[in-house]
Amino acid sequence: MQQAFGEAHNDVQSHLQRGQTGVGAGVSGAKGEAIRRRMAQLGEALDRHNRRYYVEDRPEISDAEYDALFRELQALEAEHPDWVRADSPTHRVGSPPAEGFETHPHLSPMLSLDNAMDEAEMRAFADRIARMLEHEGAIPFAAEPKLDGAGVELIYRKGRFERGLTRGDGSVGEDVTANLKHVLSVPLQLVDDGEPTPELLSIRGEVVLPIAAFKRLNERRVERELEPFANPRNAAAGGLRQLHDIDVDRLRSLEFRAYALADGRPDGLETQSEILGCLESWGFIVSPECGRCDDVDAAVAYHEDLLERRAKLPVEIDGTVFKVDDLSLQEELGTLSRSPRWAIAFKFPPEQATTTLLDIEAQVGRTGALTPVAKLDPVRVGGVTVSNTSLHNQDEVDRKDLRIGDEVVVQRAGDVIPQVVRVLLGRRKTGKDAPRLYRLPEQCPVCGDETLRLEGESVTRCPNIDCPAQLKNNLWHLASRGALDIDGLGEKLIEQLVDAGHVERLSDLFDLDRDTLIGLERMGEKSADNLLESLDKARETTFARFLIALGIRHVGATIAQLLADGFSDLDTLIEAQARDIAAVEGIGPTIAQSVASFFADPRNRAEVERLLELGLRWKAPKKRATKAADGPLVGKTFVLTGTLSQPRDHFKERILEAGGKVTGSVSKKTDYLVAGEAAGSKLTKAQKLEVSILDEAALLELLGTD
Ligand code: IVH
Repeated sequence: MQQAFGEAHNDVQSHLQRGQTGVGAGVSGAKGEAIRRRMAQLGEALDRHNRRYYVEDRPEISDAEYDALFRELQALEAEHPDWVRADSPTHRVGSPPAEGFETHPHLSPMLSLDNAMDEAEMRAFADRIARMLEHEGAIPFAAEPKLDGAGVELIYRKGRFERGLTRGDGSVGEDVTANLKHVLSVPLQLVDDGEPTPELLSIRGEVVLPIAAFKRLNERRVERELEPFANPRNAAAGGLRQLHDIDVDRLRSLEFRAYALADGRPDGLETQSEILGCLESWGFIVSPECGRCDDVDAAVAYHEDLLERRAKLPVEIDGTVFKVDDLSLQEELGTLSRSPRWAIAFKFPPEQATTTLLDIEAQVGRTGALTPVAKLDPVRVGGVTVSNTSLHNQDEVDRKDLRIGDEVVVQRAGDVIPQVVRVLLGRRKTGKDAPRLYRLPEQCPVCGDETLRLEGESVTRCPNIDCPAQLKNNLWHLASRGALDIDGLGEKLIEQLVDAGHVERLSDLFDLDRDTLIGLERMGEKSADNLLESLDKARETTFARFLIALGIRHVGATIAQLLADGFSDLDTLIEAQARDIAAVEGIGPTIAQSVASFFADPRNRAEVERLLELGLRWKAPKKRATKAADGPLVGKTFVLTGTLSQPRDHFKERILEAGGKVTGSVSKKTDYLVAGEAAGSKLTKAQKLEVSILDEAALLELLGTD
């Protein structure tokens, strides 16, 4: 599986709740630990897939696989509520907004929908709401196609289009107003038919790229030797989120279809069906397939009918959305943090085809993960031709018993990435035509280093931090805020430096000279000097940050700090065996093994040495601040957000010294949110929960200083 940028550095441990060591909800010892580990893994995986889907527009798994992970986590959380991450992906929608866009809070949260995968689940949904409503008769539903595009909110003031936001994390979205203005079906002025439209309106709907336009755009892209879009959804979501060199043609090809009115409902509307009628009268496109079903039987029939019509529809859909039609019943049912109780997305079953597995190739991703990729005899499934698809890892190949030459079933689950789901064993040949077993190579196909698979992990990796396949990602990570925080060293510049051959390993970054920098495209003298200054600043760091910067698998902020506290200096850590590292409280065997093997690799040691030679340094670790037993802030819980005048760690330390506690996310238990500049969703949440909000000055006052 191609891993997401920065994935290697997620810190599994930091997701686990503090102060619990495997005892909870009646499960103890090794089993409890395994469940917690699985929950952390699932949370981490879902975070990554959310980011790939919503922010990067390049999902790596199918909707069906995502749903399976999501449900597994939901089930574990239901059984072990004590171990639920405060910011668990099951509670949230989408992913935090990407950098580069202005953000805006939504007028009311943009929720997601619960899914029904088959008829039984659809009926269970109908039964559940009937039970909750203590309703005897049938409950009518509004039925709508589930559009496969990008959800947006459009704000209208006095009937004029004011602002358009992507879903973002559900409470704050990216401001894509300028791009939306090019979308012809976004009315700039609403039709009022004599009756004035409400003062403030929040319209929700989906931006889609009709299939015909998708084909046309792709033909043109191929002519211009650009990579074609993978599917209409990606083209739509990516189109909306263009920041530079805006492709107006793409925007004009998009279509906005309205399906909800979140704020500003005119008096007298009593059903979702009437809302859709009203949206249409204001000038919005509403899917013409929308209808009303009197009961669940009618809903199932509608769904089957829509599935049959699916291939002929002008836009891609991946199911039916059923909403309790009566708005007062909707209100009675209410919403959960992630989705309303009164609606469900009844998904279409995945589409399948069979073909031959011609070969398996190992690809090295940006985090060093080796992914077996299936080379298939090209086959059409769900409207796309599939010839390559990820097999994720060796275990998947083994579990499915895939052999080169096998006949396999390929599935495209209502969306993007096709999957090999199983082998047709009945067609497996024997004798000299028997298919070949496959194993990932023992040498990295890019740099030749010996590959490594840590115990308990499914991924095989190339451990060489300077492997060309990983270098850009590792540089990006090294420069990131949590690591060496190198101002001005962004993705583009990293690309340039590596592609031009100026940086071949991490440490080369600190060996760059002014002339080399000035020689780069779009790099003036001033920027070059600024970068050199940033690099200089970054040389003075802390032991923990240095460890984070190395990009050791599993070593994020929390683990790095534990290591820095647990080992007096770098040399001792480098020489430590896995068991010495595991002796540090809070560090488990997997992480210990990962750290030990990192430092066991002579290339990594050489790299560390060179970084030190090039001036990276830190003060001998002073004792890490621990929560003082007394002080003005005893019993108070703080959350820090936004940009403050000094790094957050500074304030955290001071709060701890004063006896307070600092946590990562806002909840009812939070006493104060300290909000710096550009605070985002945490601030919104704190306001909602009526948590006291402090600015930096107010915090200093509480701490007893000015
Ligand atoms: S209603 C509170 N209606 O599917 C209800 N959503 O998986 C929120 N979607 O976030 C949405 N077609 O982006 C609704 N007819 C439809 C839809 C629809 C597609 C999208 C939407 C939503 C996602 C949930």
